[in-house]
Amino acid sequence: MKYDPEFLENHWMPFTSNRDFKTDPRFIVRSEGVYMYNDADERILDGSSGLFCCAAGHSRPEIAQAVHDQLKTSAYVPPFQLAQPLSFELARRVAKLTPDGLDHIFFANSGSEAIDTAMKVAYAYHYARGEGQRQRFVSRERAYHGVNMAGVSLSGMIKNRQAFGPGIPGVVHMRHTWLPENRFVKGQPNEGLDLADDLLRIAMNYGPDTIAACVVEPVAGSTGCLVPPKGYLERLREICDDHGILLIFDEVICGFGRMGTPFASQAFGVTPDIMTMAKALTNAAQPMGAVAVTDKVYDAIMDSSAEGTIEFFHGYTYSGHPAACAAGIATMDIFEKENLIERAAELSGYFLEQVFALSDIPLVTDIRGYGLFAGVDLEPMGNPGVRGIDFQKRLFKNGLHIKMTGDAALLAPPLVSEHHHIDRICEVIRQTLAEY
Ligand SMILES: Cc1ncc(COP(=O)(O)O)c(C=O)c1O
Repeated sequence: MKYDPEFLENHWMPFTSNRDFKTDPRFIVRSEGVYMYNDADERILDGSSGLFCCAAGHSRPEIAQAVHDQLKTSAYVPPFQLAQPLSFELARRVAKLTPDGLDHIFFANSGSEAIDTAMKVAYAYHYARGEGQRQRFVSRERAYHGVNMAGVSLSGMIKNRQAFGPGIPGVVHMRHTWLPENRFVKGQPNEGLDLADDLLRIAMNYGPDTIAACVVEPVAGSTGCLVPPKGYLERLREICDDHGILLIFDEVICGFGRMGTPFASQAFGVTPDIMTMAKALTNAAQPMGAVAVTDKVYDAIMDSSAEGTIEFFHGYTYSGHPAACAAGIATMDIFEKENLIERAAELSGYFLEQVFALSDIPLVTDIRGYGLFAGVDLEPMGNPGVRGIDFQKRLFKNGLHIKMTGDAALLAPPLVSEHHHIDRICEVIRQTLAEY
C-alpha cells in the first residue's frame, strides 16, 4: 500500500527520523504471537518484543477479551477517594512477584510516570522522617529513565537531554559500567565492581545526608544492555544502607521475567527500597506503569500524616485504569499458566549461546547479555547512530524487527519464543550484516 505525504503529515512520531520515515514508511497492521505483519502482509519476526513489552507474544486474545469485557462493564472509575476492585487485585498479583517486602504498589500509566512517581516517593519518605534536606539523586551515565522531566534529569544519554534544559537540580551521575576489558563477556563481568564506589565519592563530596536516592537500572537497557559487574549492585546497596540513601531499581525493561526471574532484583540477589516497572505488566495491551515500595518507605509516609488526610499528594487521572488493570490481570494469568518466567530462564542459555556466536562477524564490536536480553554493538558508519538506523531498516526489509539504540542492537525476544525463532533472529542479523 502506498501512503501519500498528506496522509502522513500530521502525526509527529516519537523517537523517529520523521522526514526519512515519511519518504519510506514502515507500517505494521496486525500481529500475532512472535510475528508482526506489514501492510503487504509480509511476516516480521519480533526480536525485541516490540519495545521489550510484548513478553507473552502479540495480540493475546485472552487479554483483548478481558479489556473488552471491562470496558463494557465499567470503562472508568475516578481513582481518587473511589476505587474499582481490579486495581487491588492487580496490586496483589504484582506483589506476589516483587521481592519480599516490596508489597505496596502505586499505579501510573508508563515507565516515565513510574520513575517520576518513584522520585516523589523518595522525596516524601525523607520529608516524612524530618530529613527533607535529602534532595539530591544519584544516577548514572548512559542511564535511561523515560522522557518526563525528572526522568530526563536522571538520564545519562546525551541526546535525550541535550536540547531540554538543565533538568531538576541536584542530580549527580556515577560513571557507567561499560569497560573495554569486559567486551564479549556473557553474563556478569568480573571487572568494574569499584565503579560502585562512585556513589560513595559523591556522598562524601556533597554530604551523604543530602542524598535522597541512588537510581539505577539493574541492567542498563536502552543504552545497550550493560550487565552489572559482579558485586556492583551489592556494593550500591551497602553504601545506601550505610548512609540512609534509598536504592531505586528501574526495572521497566528488566521486570516480568526478562532476566529469567520475576525481577532483576531476584536475579542479582539485591533488594531495592523502591522499584519501578511498566513494559510487560499488561503485555503492552494497555499503557501502564507501577512503583513497588517497601513497608519501611510506605509506613514512614503513612505514619507522618494525620488520620483521615491524604498521605501522598500524587496520582494520575488514569492511575489503575480499569482497562489497564484488566489487561494486567489477564497478563499475570498467562504468565502463571504458561510458566513464562521459568521458560525465560530455560531459554536463556540457548539464546545467549546463539547471540554470542555472532561475535565472529567483523562489524560486531561487542556483545553483552543476561537472561533473555542482549546488546550487540556494531561498528559505526560515519556519525554515531547512522549504521543503527540503516541496519534497522534493512532488518525490517529482511523480515526482522530489532530495537536499535545508536549503533547497538537490543535483542529481547518474547518469552514465548522457540529455539527456531532465536535461530532465525541470529540468521537474519548475520545475513543483513553481510550486506555491508
Ligand atoms: C529503564 C526504563 N525506564 C523508564 C522507561 C520509560 O518507559 P515509558 O516509555 O513507558 O515511559 C523506559 C523505556 O524504555 C526504560 O527502559
